[in-house]
Amino acid sequence: IKKIGILTSGGDAPGMNAVIRSVTRCAVTEGIEVYGFLRGFAGILDKDYKKLSYSDVGGIMERGGTILRTSRVPEFKLPEVRKVAGDILKELGIDALVIIGGEGSLTGGNLLAQEQGIPFIGIPGSIDNDIAHTDMSIGVDTCLNTVVDAMQKLKDTASSHERAFIVEVMGRTSGYIALMSGLAIGAEAIIIPEVPVDYDSLAEKMWSERKRGKINSIVVVAEGSASAYTVARHLENRIGFETRITILGHIQRGGSPTAFDRILASRMGYEAVKSLLDGNFNVMIGLSRNDLARISIDQVLSEKKSIDMNIVKLAGILS
Ligand code: F6P
Repeated sequence: IKKIGILTSGGDAPGMNAVIRSVTRCAVTEGIEVYGFLRGFAGILDKDYKKLSYSDVGGIMERGGTILRTSRVPEFKLPEVRKVAGDILKELGIDALVIIGGEGSLTGGNLLAQEQGIPFIGIPGSIDNDIAHTDMSIGVDTCLNTVVDAMQKLKDTASSHERAFIVEVMGRTSGYIALMSGLAIGAEAIIIPEVPVDYDSLAEKMWSERKRGKINSIVVVAEGSASAYTVARHLENRIGFETRITILGHIQRGGSPTAFDRILASRMGYEAVKSLLDGNFNVMIGLSRNDLARISIDQVLSEKKSIDMNIVKLAGILS
């Protein structure tokens, strides 16, 4: 391996820059040239790339977003488009790619590897934490801290005004962000796609808590389950609280990465380069019990990450 490409693809996640820094510095130290493609797979198709040196990636670890920028490229689903990408990478002499992104991006990388013979290493980067075979993806911890901070602020004003807040969080089809942030702030209810919701008993519970003198209420809803407006329609006028809606939106994807994300990103970047040097291709670097593992990408993509039902139960007991 003499020359590698690196790209970030799909939704950005805090910590992606720390991965770029780690991969670049570890690779350069081994005498490997690193090319950063801009805007994910679009950068390959547009031949938009830059060579990254050890010093080019200085001062980026603490920055949110991704210096390589990112995009979703729907046309990459077409084999003829992947063929164009494969030809360009071969022409540039790229021996392998490091792809940082979510399931869609890893799928794109896998198809490119299978059809065009461009090996790759995947690094899970997505705030949703919906990628199988890794306990945590890059950006999840920072996102949770952002969400908890925002909800704590909502709790202050909720108490002052004796209101209920319905807070909608991201996560695509996964309830992970809602569940974990709800647990961390002691939400009254957490509505996630993995668990059916019973609005009647929820309204009853909130009503009786209000009567007992509770002065605030936070209901967290995962975007994959329902919109905050739908939840509010089910609950308002039945719970004794005035209701307000907050949709946290893309604030969840920004911000300087936490120490956890910086460390995980740095470790995964190093492991990705070691995997390349070992000739261990088409794997994703996953975190399992605080150890890093190289998992075949087919295995990763064929499984769906599930929610820990024990945590669902715990959140119910503690709320
Ligand atoms: O996958 C990350 C994510 O932030 C999801 O939680 C959300 O549904 C989606 O991306 C939003 O995508 P976009 O930035 O394209 O609106």
